[in-house]
Amino acid sequence: MDYKTDFLIIGSGIAGLAYALKVAAFGDVVLVTKKEIMDSSTNKAQGGIASVFGKLDSFDMHIQDTLDSGDGLCDKAVVEMVVKDGPDRIRELIDLGVKFNIDEAAQQKTGEPDFDLGREGGHSHNRIVHAQDMTGKEVEKVLVRLAEKHDRITILENHIAVDLITYSKRMKRGLVTTTHEDYCCGAYVLDISEKRVKTFCSKITLLATGGAGKVYLYTSNPDIATGDGIAMAYRAGATVANLEFVQFHPTCLYHPKAKSFLVSEAVRGEGARLIDADGTAFMGQYDSLKDLACRDVVARAIDTELKKSGADSVFLDITHKDPDFIKERFPNIYEECLSYGVDMTRNPIPVVPAAHYMCGGVASDVFGRTDIQRLYVVGETACTGLHGANRLASNSLLEALVYANTAAGKSVEEFRHVENSNANDIVPWDDVGTTDSDEVITVSQNWDEIRRFMWNYVGIVRSDKRLARADRRIEIIQKEIKEYYWNFKVTADLIELRNIAIVAELIIKSAMHRKESRGLHYNIEYPERNDRLWNKDTVMRRPFVG
Ligand code: SIN
Repeated sequence: MDYKTDFLIIGSGIAGLAYALKVAAFGDVVLVTKKEIMDSSTNKAQGGIASVFGKLDSFDMHIQDTLDSGDGLCDKAVVEMVVKDGPDRIRELIDLGVKFNIDEAAQQKTGEPDFDLGREGGHSHNRIVHAQDMTGKEVEKVLVRLAEKHDRITILENHIAVDLITYSKRMKRGLVTTTHEDYCCGAYVLDISEKRVKTFCSKITLLATGGAGKVYLYTSNPDIATGDGIAMAYRAGATVANLEFVQFHPTCLYHPKAKSFLVSEAVRGEGARLIDADGTAFMGQYDSLKDLACRDVVARAIDTELKKSGADSVFLDITHKDPDFIKERFPNIYEECLSYGVDMTRNPIPVVPAAHYMCGGVASDVFGRTDIQRLYVVGETACTGLHGANRLASNSLLEALVYANTAAGKSVEEFRHVENSNANDIVPWDDVGTTDSDEVITVSQNWDEIRRFMWNYVGIVRSDKRLARADRRIEIIQKEIKEYYWNFKVTADLIELRNIAIVAELIIKSAMHRKESRGLHYNIEYPERNDRLWNKDTVMRRPFVG
């Protein structure tokens, strides 16, 4: 046994850190993260946190916008809970030291703190609390600082989780079948520097590993987004849901050297328009909300325009705004675009859609509990019912904060009744008979192949034929990965490949299952939403294989 702790947290974004800071008041915490602590999707989040602070806004309106965006699949009770809890969670961040942009003029008039509220697609009001265009970074920085100096939190960087340890696995394999009574008692984690798989025993385990954008060739996500939490939970027997609903962000910078840099929706919120190469604004043809339509609509419109014209990109034009305002409001986007030779104050920015957010994930209840006892999930890894078929912009950091709070409350209640005394029964990681790989090329070949066919066949616009092609390919690749996995010592690349292959397969199977178009899932064979047959979640659980 390498580590024995009360709470094991896998992932270091807003979800894992906010949860860590809460539960550390009650027990010891070990937080593992596969790269450096700041390598998370949170750190890249530009837009902000959606919440009701505007004088003309209301909870009911935020709830309605979320339900409209979710296209019939949101859980209304969850939406209400998250929206109503938002302001308290944001005030909590401010108390911890996070600084958001303030509307100075309004504040001077009333003497009350008054946020500068941004606007994004699908929102009927300005309600995005933000820190310029680097909201995630500001939040992450403060939470990391607090976690690093907390004496009950141990942070282990360069540690990648391989698999969860469950009761059924811990016991002699084959004697116990996975059931809903199964429970999680920790994880096997590869220490990348030491090249050794360590055993972590915990009373409560939290998955907060973020999303799975790296399943696709083009993504706004950081390299860590390989769906690790979803894949591990699925392998352990947890229920996953709605994985066909992958959100493509409409506007990532298009440049041969840019690694999918996001141009925030907040830019459209400040008046930018999407135009084609001739300078014609096209969103009016697709939706009455034009450039501020929901993301699925805008991404599909761009996809249609690109297929029609054969062009490499469309353009985002905000040149009509005062250059000083642009530089002040979007300093990060301005600098990044400029570094690729695009001055957004003078020229439209070339943009394309890219995979951005996984709306499905590990199924959880309102406390972040999965159907494996003592295993919790928070943030993008989870499917809580908030997002339905399409997440409303800037609802994700909000969801992570609200669920970090409810999950912390419930896990503190639960951990007091758990003994770690059976830790010694845990079977250590067994790599007897495996050798170091002599064919690393297999990993990179399969990785590239998956990402390319997922982009081409399981992307913004799908068809039965394309999905069937993807399904055939993933089956072959899965066989190769299994063979490779059992014969060679695990490496971080192999662990990630195994995870993206599982998530890709789940996305394909979920998309094949849903014979309609809804939210982010669009199949040309079934272009309409069909409430009679498909007004339900797509739920998957792995049969127990020992
Ligand atoms: C953005 O800034 O456009 C991204 C915000 C989000 O994905 O919610």
